[in-house]
Amino acid sequence: MFNFDFHNPTQILFGKGRIADLAKVVPANARVLILSGGGSIKHNGVLDEVHAALAGRSFQEFSGIEPNPSYENLMQAVELVRREKLDFLLAVGGGSVIDGAKFIAAAVNFEGDPWAILEKRGANITSALPFGAILTLPATGSEMNNGSVVTRKSLKAKMAFSSRHCFPQFSILDPTKTFTLPTRQIGNGVVDAYAHVMEQYMTYPADAPIQDRFAEGILLTLIEEGPKALATPDDYAVRANIMWCATLALNGLIGAGVPQDWATHMVGHELTALYNLDHAQTLAIVLPSMLRIRKEGKRAKLLQYAARVWNLTTGDEDARIDAAIEKTQAFFEQMGVKTRLGDYGVTADNIETVLGQLESHKMTMLGERRDVTLAVSRQVLELSL
Ligand code: NZQ
Ligand code: ZN
Repeated sequence: MFNFDFHNPTQILFGKGRIADLAKVVPANARVLILSGGGSIKHNGVLDEVHAALAGRSFQEFSGIEPNPSYENLMQAVELVRREKLDFLLAVGGGSVIDGAKFIAAAVNFEGDPWAILEKRGANITSALPFGAILTLPATGSEMNNGSVVTRKSLKAKMAFSSRHCFPQFSILDPTKTFTLPTRQIGNGVVDAYAHVMEQYMTYPADAPIQDRFAEGILLTLIEEGPKALATPDDYAVRANIMWCATLALNGLIGAGVPQDWATHMVGHELTALYNLDHAQTLAIVLPSMLRIRKEGKRAKLLQYAARVWNLTTGDEDARIDAAIEKTQAFFEQMGVKTRLGDYGVTADNIETVLGQLESHKMTMLGERRDVTLAVSRQVLELSL
């Protein structure tokens, strides 16, 4: 196992009815800005519960944070915070709203052009406003991590940053608030969480059996519970288990002390920025091909995955690996997320453009061994057509 630091200061308030506890975790004198997306929280009663819980407190609102939040839009919120001297952010929504809050929090007191935060991946953040979150879409893990992804539309650039200053102070996870998710977002969430586990687990053995077994436990639970969320969408226990899986998949626990990949995510971000695919759609397309093309480098873990997650223990090694990757892809399809570029209208003609963007964003040595060059990314994309 590698040396590691593990620090996660986010307090989780989990369960039905927990929005009522908001006033206990938002500082009493805070001048709050409530951040939200395109309106789901207005339609499903979440915003009413937030208003009730913050009765008597000082708050303003900024809505309209879009999926794959844009720098251009978030800067409007930065201006509002500066103008109104607000000092606490409350993100209410999915990963996009929470990621948006992290950027706003870091940008408000940033000296110079805040786009530099993305250019330096967050290394230049020296402080951030405090913020909390109310999660309505289990997927990204943003509710309990310090990462964020922001798109600059004018550049078609989707970039990630992280900073120790950007953990939420608290996150409220009420599984009943996920009942109104459209089918597409249920599938997206399960696929994203699954991919997060794979990016930290599917590398090479690192004498880390507890991280491996945590990871395999999350994968097995997602495989069990994901289809139930589609079949019986009003089942509280199913939604609760998926929600906790998604949080644990990317809060630092399973990734501590082990090699990490993230090549699938980096290629996926380019696909979203260029062609507007949902984040999880890009992962469902890229991950199976990434595993097929990089089979040799990942052989030992692929065999472990085949045995422990898909119960494939007999027969030829290559056949077991191939079957495990097939089952992974079939699971994404079962969750309603299509796994081919062609399913989304992206063709062979587009591959050069994707590679050009990867190059301009310095994504030319990806993966746990830094051996995912542009040539490898090309093979992966061609196999995904
Ligand atoms: O905007 P509203 O009206 O709220 O609707 C949203 C949005 O249209 C809707 N939704 C959310 N909760 C709902 C709901 N609709 C009905 N009922 C509810 N309870 O769902 C749509 C998608 O929301 P979004 O927040 O965009 O989805 P997600 O949570 O998947 O977040 C995706 C973003 O997170 C980034 C992605 O790149 C993408 O930009 N990621 C962030 C990560 C992190 N911070 O650690 C890691 C991930 O790998 C990922 O890159
Ligand atoms: Zn993701």
